[in-house]
Amino acid sequence: MATDTTLRNLADTLLDNPAVSGGIDSIIRELREAQSSITGVRPPVEELRVGYEQYLAQVEKDKGRKPVFPYVGSGLGNGPLVELADGSVKWDMINGIGVSMFGHSHPGMTEAAIRGALADTVMQGNLQFNREAIDFARLLVEEAGRTSKITKCFLTNSGAMANESALKVCMQKTGGKAPRILAFSHNFMGRTIVLSQIGDSAAGRVGIPLNLQVDYMPFYDPEQDQNSIDDALSRLQQFIDRYPGQHACFAMELIQGEGGFNIGPREFFEPLMKLCRESGIPVLVDEIQTFGRTETMFHFESLGLGEYVDVVTIGKMSQVCACLYTEDMNPKPGLLSGTFIGSSVGLQVGKKMLETMRDGGYYGPEGRIATLHKAFCKRAESLVKNHPEFFGPMPNKTVPEQQAIGPYGGIGGMMRFTPFGGDKAMILKSIHAMFEEGVIAFYCGHGPFHIRFLAPVGVMAPEQFDDVFAIVERALGKASG
Ligand SMILES: Cc1ncc(COP(=O)(O)O)c(C=O)c1O
Repeated sequence: MATDTTLRNLADTLLDNPAVSGGIDSIIRELREAQSSITGVRPPVEELRVGYEQYLAQVEKDKGRKPVFPYVGSGLGNGPLVELADGSVKWDMINGIGVSMFGHSHPGMTEAAIRGALADTVMQGNLQFNREAIDFARLLVEEAGRTSKITKCFLTNSGAMANESALKVCMQKTGGKAPRILAFSHNFMGRTIVLSQIGDSAAGRVGIPLNLQVDYMPFYDPEQDQNSIDDALSRLQQFIDRYPGQHACFAMELIQGEGGFNIGPREFFEPLMKLCRESGIPVLVDEIQTFGRTETMFHFESLGLGEYVDVVTIGKMSQVCACLYTEDMNPKPGLLSGTFIGSSVGLQVGKKMLETMRDGGYYGPEGRIATLHKAFCKRAESLVKNHPEFFGPMPNKTVPEQQAIGPYGGIGGMMRFTPFGGDKAMILKSIHAMFEEGVIAFYCGHGPFHIRFLAPVGVMAPEQFDDVFAIVERALGKASG
């Protein structure tokens, strides 16, 4: 926000105080020094092993289950490298499922965090917020509004709350008389009672009474291309004819995250969105996993679909989540609120991340994210070529690389590869072997299953994939042996 920089209140004076900025500078200097020796993978320190095992046993005891992998962070790292509490160092290619886009212990983000920690309150909310919350929301509206009619932003403290808010906005807009939701097969929206009914995961709704009616649409199938486009459109028309005026929205991910990094082209989404518009069905785009990670900050912009977006949700890398909507969707007072929007640290760091991404040459076909994706593909391709025993022969691709269901793919900072035919047990075994060898990753997909990277695109250098892939190669050998 443009403010007169000569006007200072007491908080500004405190932050500008040379003793305060000098103190922050000296902490950051020490941080740089401490992280400078984190330059590659390291095994655990023998003496720290026992304490580490105790922490893990404690997690299992208190949570009632083992963690997905034996990760306990030490609190220090260096970009894509993280130190665990046992003194080991690993490449972090998943970053808490896409949260730490700038990796670990980023000096600029840590500085923003320290400044955030100096705020008068730890948390900010809908009743009480500081300037950074307003600046954060404004930045999002400006970015989203470049190619869409989005003008409003409601901040939330989780992706699930952003999606809950979005659904409420759509339900109110459709008069409270539309009990059905349109959604794609294999979608994921979050873990509240309502969202787990929409999400296409059987395990996610075990024991949940189903009281929402969801009409599942097929997602784009690159092998079927135009047929899949025609099929989806005719199914949508059938649902609309069968249940006229009963759909509160079509909730969709433009790239399915948990569903397997499935990608659809503009030609697939546009006719569906157009038909929704003609039928009075709001379009809700869930960008919680895609946000910030493709060649534009909002992926709908890359696809040129902004004109159809009524509501969009974001989260993860932004640290604070949000539900954004058009003027026309603006709900009546009372529908959206909540104690928290986020922490003062989260808001300061989130704002800094968004500004850095916007201004730092990350976006566009030649931007840092696209370059990193190319570097990933190059290493993945040689892995596939050199190891037919893990991947089988390379398929003959007849569809554009980014959309192909090949042995590797994804888009931007969403990267995947698929050894062992996508067999779930083998993918899980591979991920565990990778963790032991020094690369932290996760899986996605519902079959085939894929190995998923949400690489820290804010800080990762293309050549760092050399080391990552050398470890992946070793780990896949171990998993298959
Ligand atoms: C597409 C999508 N929507 C919603 C969510 C839920 O976000 P959160 O876990 O912050 O509630 C996720 C989280 O993985 C997601 O990937």
